[in-house]
Amino acid sequence: MDHLVCFLSGTLALGVHNGLPKEHLTLAEDLLTTCYQTYAQQPTFLAPEITYFNIQGENSNDMYVKTNDAHNLLRPEFIESLWYMYQFTGNVTYQDWGWKILQGFNNYTKVVNGYTSIGNVRNPTNVRPKDMMESFFLSETLKYLYLLFSDNPKLLDVDKYVVNTEGHPLPVYKN
Ligand SMILES: *[C@@H]1O[C@H](CO)[C@@H](O)[C@H](O)[C@H]1NC(C)=O
Ligand SMILES: *[C@@H]1O[C@H](CO)[C@@H](O)[C@H](O)[C@H]1NC(C)=O
Repeated sequence: MDHLVCFLSGTLALGVHNGLPKEHLTLAEDLLTTCYQTYAQQPTFLAPEITYFNIQGENSNDMYVKTNDAHNLLRPEFIESLWYMYQFTGNVTYQDWGWKILQGFNNYTKVVNGYTSIGNVRNPTNVRPKDMMESFFLSETLKYLYLLFSDNPKLLDVDKYVVNTEGHPLPVYKN
């Protein structure tokens, strides 16, 4: 499973908020738990780009990572979903998860003038910094962390704004 898939929990939760079937929220919670594990099972507390599931006894762990997929590009999808899920459920566990991951970013990706993509989430003693910060780290990852930790749940009101792929809020107009 690619880390990119982790956006889906937030989209499902937004759908339920707008009238889609409640069972979508269960799927959203389950998927979010899986995404959390892709972070929590790494010694850096940062998810790799792709995680494999041990479904045929090919590995001793439930989840494992291949060498070419062990990088972390400071991606936002999981944090984005945490923000949506926290808003709709009020469950502070989602804030706690976000805080742990922010600590992972601070411990292993912070450099003198910003944050950097890293080549290996599996080795805390050498994460192989890449000297490269994607623009989505500021426009999405940090924005969603800020919103997730805010005391004001309506700081960005999803009934008034739709947030596009790159984290830009656009007003919702009624017809
Ligand atoms: C990051 O550093 C903080 C503060 O030193 C520590 O409490 C936390 O356990 C560290 N987390 C990881 C994943 O290394
Ligand atoms: C909050 O979410 C966590 C993780 O999914 C879950 O274990 C816990 O039961 C939830 N808490 C409440 C009060 O629903």
